[in-house]
This record gives sequence, structure tokens and C-alpha cells, in this order.
Amino acid sequence: KRNLETEYMGHEVHYFKKVDSTNEVAKKLAEEGSPEGTLVVAESQSRGRGRRGKKWVSPEGGVWMSMILRPEIPPMNAPQLTLVTGVAVAETLKSECGLDVGIKWPNDILIGDKKVCGILTEVSATVDMVDYVVVGIGIDLNVDVDLFPPELRSGATSLKMELEREIQSVKLVQKFLINFEKTYGDFKEGKFPEILKEWRILSTTIGNYVEVHKRGRTLKGEAVGINKDGVLIVELDDGTLKKVLSGECIHVKK
Ligand code: BTN
Repeated sequence: KRNLETEYMGHEVHYFKKVDSTNEVAKKLAEEGSPEGTLVVAESQSRGRGRRGKKWVSPEGGVWMSMILRPEIPPMNAPQLTLVTGVAVAETLKSECGLDVGIKWPNDILIGDKKVCGILTEVSATVDMVDYVVVGIGIDLNVDVDLFPPELRSGATSLKMELEREIQSVKLVQKFLINFEKTYGDFKEGKFPEILKEWRILSTTIGNYVEVHKRGRTLKGEAVGINKDGVLIVELDDGTLKKVLSGECIHVKK
């Protein structure tokens, strides 16, 4: 029934009608030894999580999923997987839905200036080696963001609202898994620079004025580029260059 065209990505699937958070389930499974490529999917989440401890509204109709990865990389490179995943999601939405999507650094997939997908990457590692990474993806597919709480509604959209029709989630997930297996495979072969080229093309951040929230302070400047490690470079108003890691938060100003 699954009809998967991947080598391993999504071959072990844990499906739930409702779960607290697919990232939490995936982390438990990873601790218990589930292999690379394990996929956790839920129809809805009661405690979906966004970045920086934010709540992620996850009603039925969306795609809420997490994947277990076991790349042999140092922990400092793990945030690169957020960019790798973003490229795979963006390409899937472009090719499957014909949408012109962009990526806001590091992890938001946008249609116009509205967010349609978020990525939450969580890492378990020793000082020198990653044990596992859980990449969580939330796509507002067939949901009505007008029903979200006001603070989460603004700036959000869904595929259904953009396309004015429903999208089949199983097909979309299958295509994503194929794209992701390819992009992630490239990453493991050391082709992160090539993936970054794709990312730069999709980026709506580079060249824009941004506000960076760093340890309670707000820095303002132009996002001038992204370096080979996937770190964003921001030129402050006084001309100094700052590196922004993907754990930090930015706002793109219009
Ligand atoms: C963000 O943009 O802040 C990241 C949102 C990530 C949401 C997904 S939905 C599936 C997975 N499970 C969670 O609890 N969060 C991620």
C-alpha cells in the first residue's frame, strides 16, 4: 500500500491518529535504536512544538512528521540538516504543487511572505559525534489558518488556501521522501556546498534587512550571505559582520 520508491527513507513508519509530538516519539524510538530513515507521522498533535519552545498548532489536515537520521558528523554540523531539509521540502512543494516558494533562514518555507512550513531539528550527540538527529517537519496542508489563535494566524498560510483545492498528503509525503533521500544522500557525501547553492537560490533572506535576536539583544542589519558552514552573515548598521547560527532567531523586515 505504501508503494515507496525510496531505498530506506520512510521504510519503517510509525503512524498515529493523534500523538503529543512526532519529534518526541521519534526521539524515544531513536533512543531505542530505530534505524536511519524511520518516519513518524501523525494526523494531529496535541503538543506540537515549534522552535524556541513555541507551540505549533497541529490540527487534522496538516502534515506532521519526523524522521530519524544517523549521520556520521560532528555535532556542530547538525544544524546544516535544517537547510538540507528546507531545500528538499521547497523543491517538493515547487514540483508537486507548482508553487513559487521561498526559504526564510534557517527553516521557514514561505509562499509570498507567509509561512506554510516549519522545520524543527533536534540533535543528540557526544562532544565529537552525532548519535542521532530528529528532523521534524510541519506543513500546513489542508488546514484553515484562520482558525489558529490570533498570534499564530498572522503570517501563516496553507497549501489549500493558496491553491484553493485540497492536496493529497500521502502523495506529497512520498515525493518528499524521494527528494529528501537524494538531498540527504548528497549531504552525507560531502556535497553540502552544492545544496547551499540551491538554498541560496530559494532564499528570501539574503540581501534583505533583518533583525536578529541574540541572547536577549536585538541586532539590526543586512543579511549579506551564508558561509560554507551554513552560518548566516549579517552586516550591522555600523559595518561590522556578525555570524548567526541557526539556533538564533531572525525577522526579515520589509
Ligand atoms: C518552527 O517553525 O518553529 C518549527 C515547527 C516544526 C513543527 C513540526 S510538526 C512535526 C514535528 N513535531 C513537532 O512537535 N514539531 C515538528
